[in-house]
Amino acid sequence: MPPEKTAQSSQTIPGPKPSPILGNILDMRQGEVFEILLEFHKKYGDIVLLELPKNQYVYSIASPDSIQHVLQMNNQNYTKGERIRIASPLVGNGLFSSEGEFWRRQRRMMQPAFHKTKIAVLAEEMVRTIEEMLDEWEKLAGIGKPMNIQTEMMALTMEVVTRTLFTSSLTPEEVAELGEQITFLLDVITERSQAIFPIGEKLPSARNRRFDKGVATIDKIIYRLIEDRRKSADKGDDLLGMLLEARDEDTGEMMDDKQLRDELVTMFLAGHETTAIALSWSLALLSQHPTVRRRLQAEVDTILGNRLPSAEDFNDLQFTLAVVSEAMRLYPPLPLTLRQAKEDDILEGYPIKANSGIFINIYSAHHNPDVWENPEGFDPERFLPDRIKDVPRFAYVPFGGGPRQCIGNNFALMESVLALSMINQRYELDLIPGTDLEPYMPGTLRPKGGVPVIIRKR
Ligand code: HEM
Repeated sequence: MPPEKTAQSSQTIPGPKPSPILGNILDMRQGEVFEILLEFHKKYGDIVLLELPKNQYVYSIASPDSIQHVLQMNNQNYTKGERIRIASPLVGNGLFSSEGEFWRRQRRMMQPAFHKTKIAVLAEEMVRTIEEMLDEWEKLAGIGKPMNIQTEMMALTMEVVTRTLFTSSLTPEEVAELGEQITFLLDVITERSQAIFPIGEKLPSARNRRFDKGVATIDKIIYRLIEDRRKSADKGDDLLGMLLEARDEDTGEMMDDKQLRDELVTMFLAGHETTAIALSWSLALLSQHPTVRRRLQAEVDTILGNRLPSAEDFNDLQFTLAVVSEAMRLYPPLPLTLRQAKEDDILEGYPIKANSGIFINIYSAHHNPDVWENPEGFDPERFLPDRIKDVPRFAYVPFGGGPRQCIGNNFALMESVLALSMINQRYELDLIPGTDLEPYMPGTLRPKGGVPVIIRKR
């Protein structure tokens, strides 16, 4: 914990000593922001101050109270900030990046599509997609050939998001093209967002030209899709169908093509990689903890036996959900998210200056020894109802919190629980001995080098 709670000057907030002109810029090694912030939290406590040149300040926060303050209690004072504009060429004014009244209107219009009852309808498509993947695995089971489970999970969640957003309105070639372009564009955006001196995007380089071409390809596919669906009498019961029919309850307004495009790309992007990462870590951890795996298998055998799951089984698969929850505590797929203060504020007694950046350090919050017993241990039982009720709400924020909490959390948890239960119903995955699962953060928090496993039938 920081030593001084009543400090009145930013100088008294713990943090590395800044140099007079460059501040802490030399402490921020390019591409290693995540690793550096972890070091600082270990050294300086729950709130860390970093100074940048020209009197700019960045705070990194990891206590439940400070996170609750920024995301919920005083959320009106904290915007997503200028840096989010780096993603604008791809996501436009979609829900993740929009602000103010416009964001509020969009969120109100989209929220019903993510209600638990709607997710239950989408669960059928999820189960079908997972089953097709597991049928493919039959060929690999028992022949001892390594498989990278992270690649498999990326392909699975991409397929799930494509089918639940657009059903079968895209050709397989378009799906492949969309996936390839989005992956590339996301890599470039991550690079740009981590650059300390953001000038690379303005250069007429081949990579930047490919970026523009990628955006144009995505636009062409998505606009074609929207046009076809608008012409059709049946709007469909996938997410696109729901968004096409969504109306602002006050004005009756509907989304125009540009806004629909931005929301679809946002969901495609936000909805697949994060879930794939949560599943990859869950499966890796299960392989490393055979007792936990046996308990999960026992739950699946009791609840499902040999039948396929449905949305109704979600509430009964409590231990399976606890495994994903604990995997996301240890390795939150989005370990950092950023805000910018509009005006001066006081955070846990410390002054925050207007325009400062705030890193919500989800990873450090999830490993905070003041909150979590044995924070580095893998213990899914801590998420069972009678134990998790004692943990402060904002100590565990894999989906963020407050008004801007992830809109897809129920979707992601349903998909994860269905996939984990179905995988463990049929197969056992064993990590290749000697695999080092070191986390790294090229945007999301992935296991470096993937998760190589050998697969066996149960
Ligand atoms: C395990 C999977 C997922 C994780 C860990 C995750 C994490 C997050 C987090 C931390 C935020 C808040 C960011 C912030 O406050 O700055 C967020 C927002 C968002 N997520 Fe997710 N997400 C996941 C799955 C999904 C899925 C499946 C979808 C859609 C199908 C989705 C769509 C969104 C959108 C649209 C937002 C912006 C919401 C708003 O600002 O109103 N996410 N997500």
